[in-house]
Amino acid sequence: MCEEARPRRSRVLVVGATGRLGGNLVSASLSAGHPTFALVRPHHLAVPESAPIRSLTDAGATLIKGSLDDYPSLVEAVRQMDVVICAVPTKKALEQKPLIRAIKEAGCVKRFIPAEFGLDPTKVQICGMDHGFYGKKIEIRRLIESEGIPHTYICCNLFMRYLLPSLVQPGLDAPPRDEVKIFGDGNTRGVFVKEADVAKFTICTIEDPRTLNKTLYLRPSGNVYSMNELVDLWEKKINKFLKKIHITEEQLLKNIQDAPLPLKMDLIFIYSTFIKGDQTYFEIDSRIEGTQLYPHVNYTTLNEYLDTLA
Ligand SMILES: NC(=O)c1ccc[n+]([C@@H]2O[C@H](COP(=O)([O-])OP(=O)(O)OC[C@H]3O[C@@H](n4cnc5c(N)ncnc54)[C@H](OP(=O)(O)O)[C@@H]3O)[C@@H](O)[C@H]2O)c1
Repeated sequence: MCEEARPRRSRVLVVGATGRLGGNLVSASLSAGHPTFALVRPHHLAVPESAPIRSLTDAGATLIKGSLDDYPSLVEAVRQMDVVICAVPTKKALEQKPLIRAIKEAGCVKRFIPAEFGLDPTKVQICGMDHGFYGKKIEIRRLIESEGIPHTYICCNLFMRYLLPSLVQPGLDAPPRDEVKIFGDGNTRGVFVKEADVAKFTICTIEDPRTLNKTLYLRPSGNVYSMNELVDLWEKKINKFLKKIHITEEQLLKNIQDAPLPLKMDLIFIYSTFIKGDQTYFEIDSRIEGTQLYPHVNYTTLNEYLDTLA
């Protein structure tokens, strides 16, 4: 059981704090005034002057040595917390099982946010091509629910840093300036959210009773674009028309089959977003998503993000 009387602000543990989303979660939690703790693997603590460690300590986070592979370290860390947020990569999703066991054993965590932060794994359509990517997230959801752990799932759609820097052109590291591939008819809309904003919305949920045992969907109105709209916006920014190469659904499916990893996963996300996508399911209220629930949160629009690339 918890060792001490609960402080006024929730104490937040971020697992995966040295990662890209994890670092943003730590910053957002500290900005919101929460005592914030970063579970850091021993190899980092051996180099206390390294950039990831300096940025956590300079921001004001308290480091806790631990790992998902070290169960006693998890129990000890979790026993001091009100909130646990996990931001390990999807390939490690199932490694959250000991963390869930530790949360159950500690018995004091009021909210657990597992490593999801993408499309809704129960709704996405990928025709079984994803090598278990979403199946692992669903397995973790079912374990959380069967253990009765208070939780919130964050479904934020695509991070801006993923696919958007190339204008959804896998293999490029900058947006195209001559020709552009359009997948399908180009009219299905996808949603992009900056990681720092995902983190801010995530922190808003942790003490909010409206999000208890619910999924928070992020679909900011300024960030919902089809490929046609995206290309149109980009052409205006660079003041040039691009040659359009249309890739049909059949061709994309064939490309997915033939592509090596990690390109295959990029194409699968394009297929599930820009061909099969429909990110219009909201749970807390049939109409409400994150920006409506937390209208005070400023977020980066896609238009602003593309300005940084032009
Ligand atoms: N929606 C999107 O477009 C999108 C794109 C990418 C990721 N995501 C999601 O964002 C989340 C985080 O991804 P990310 O790209 O930010 O991850 P990342 O940068 O790869 O960071 C992973 C973090 O997990 C830690 N970690 C790995 N194994 C661990 C273990 N056994 N015990 C404790 N910590 C461990 C790493 O620690 P070390 O520093 O010690 O290795 C690191 O801090 C995931 O849920 C992922 O699905 C979404």
